[in-house]
Amino acid sequence: MNKTTVGGGKMLKVALIPGDGVGPEVITSAIRVLDRVAEKNGHKILYEYACAGGEAIDREGIPLPEETIDICKKSDAVLLGAVGGPKWDSLPGELRPERAILGLRSSLCLYANLRPAVLHEPLKSFSPLAESVREKGIDMLFVRELTGGIYFGKRGRKATKNKVFAFDTESYTDKEIKRVGKMAFELARARKKRLTSVDKANVLETSRLWRETLMEMSGDYPEVEFESMYIDNAAMQLIKNPSRFDVIVTSNLFGDILTDEASAIIGSIGLSPSASVGEGRFGLYEPIHGSAPDIAGKGIANPVGTVLSAAMMLRFTFGLEKEALEIENAVASALESGARTKDIAERNMNNNFISTNDMTEKILSYL
Ligand code: IPM
Ligand code: MN
Repeated sequence: MNKTTVGGGKMLKVALIPGDGVGPEVITSAIRVLDRVAEKNGHKILYEYACAGGEAIDREGIPLPEETIDICKKSDAVLLGAVGGPKWDSLPGELRPERAILGLRSSLCLYANLRPAVLHEPLKSFSPLAESVREKGIDMLFVRELTGGIYFGKRGRKATKNKVFAFDTESYTDKEIKRVGKMAFELARARKKRLTSVDKANVLETSRLWRETLMEMSGDYPEVEFESMYIDNAAMQLIKNPSRFDVIVTSNLFGDILTDEASAIIGSIGLSPSASVGEGRFGLYEPIHGSAPDIAGKGIANPVGTVLSAAMMLRFTFGLEKEALEIENAVASALESGARTKDIAERNMNNNFISTNDMTEKILSYL
């Protein structure tokens, strides 16, 4: 894996899970961009297709076939589009397409989810925040715990004669908190050296352990300015003053919610990439938007989140910083040139927007 090619470039082994809805459309864009960058720089990417989510349910009756996990384990990285859709919404919890994502995260031990939220200069006016707020700029990195908490706790449902009872439980060990905390402190140290830990320690016991653990760890990172903040306040500060944040570390559920909020304040969920990582350089990369069934098959999805996820993959798994920057700069240039998919088209532009394919071409034209 990750061998050197004859020309001195790298051989990259990537498992591809296009998934459902707009997934295959945005993955097609990312492959075209990746192939261009690889060709330019003498690398070779070997893709191996794997199925998960609704597609896997239709074909094999389960959302995450063993074979898919095997293909991912044999690869250096996984690039995923999205899973889910109304067709599978009425299935019981264990058989829903979303189980595939949760199963991949846990079976691949991807305990940290990195979600940058950056307000792109040309899209400033697209942020719903007040001008005085967005003018200060937004450049945050969320580190969301990904394989613990309420997502993976005991859950169930019981029905008695006169009531139905359902429960979900959240639990965290100090070990789980420490490993994601370490990742967050190290990332903060390499950025603007500010770390905010988000919890609900005024109510939840898991949050109290979270807060104590992070607080204790902060002693090992004297150069990082550390603070703890309650989730309700953090949700508010993101809207009132997002420029105050640098790196934000939080639990699985809180991270899920805050990162959707963060992608809305930068203009569109279609722009946000993510990397799910654990020990080592292996990672699963995916846009944070879902399968968007309302626009699937129309060729109008924004490929930027997936293309930027591919850039994160080159940087983190393959150590190809220059190539990652090439992609990020090409995306920035495409946005600067005024290229807009429907989700980021100004309402006063007479609904003037371009297709997924044309946006991809635009990005490619800068590579
Ligand atoms: C995300 C998604 C997933 C999550 C779903 C699809 C299980 O919303 O990646 O944020 O809740 O983690
Ligand atoms: Mn989510």
